[in-house]
Amino acid sequence: MNTEKYSDLVKKAIEARKKSYSPYSAFSVGAALLCADGTIYTGANIENASYTPTVCAERVAFFSALHEGQRDFCAIAIVGGKSGEEICEYCPPCGVCRQVISEFCGDDFEIILSDGKENKALTLKELLPYRFDLLK
Ligand code: THU
Repeated sequence: MNTEKYSDLVKKAIEARKKSYSPYSAFSVGAALLCADGTIYTGANIENASYTPTVCAERVAFFSALHEGQRDFCAIAIVGGKSGEEICEYCPPCGVCRQVISEFCGDDFEIILSDGKENKALTLKELLPYRFDLLK
């Protein structure tokens, strides 16, 4: 898959990662969500002393876009790694985030991962086959 067209989206995710609040895991994640109208919403993980209120970067980006009325999404770039260090490994979305993506995106929605050197594009269908969907 051609990931060249997503290099700007990945850059925005890397930039968003700097705003992560992750003093408990020391793992910072950034995400940049591309909407069908070209608008990009970003997010970073926000942790909590009580742990469970923690929200992943992907959901911060999605909920911010959804609250602005966005409903059509093309792709999300996700980057993550040890806080204070450059990214060096792919950071695939957790199961909860995959399910949230599933609520609003089709099988062809693209998830772009980067290890700082190369980008990898995966579809939602590849990351979440046989997904649970009550509205189908
Ligand atoms: N995290 C994300 O932001 N996105 C994911 O898909 C995986 C995990 C965050 C949650 C937590 O703040 C930290 O990474 C370590 O799990």
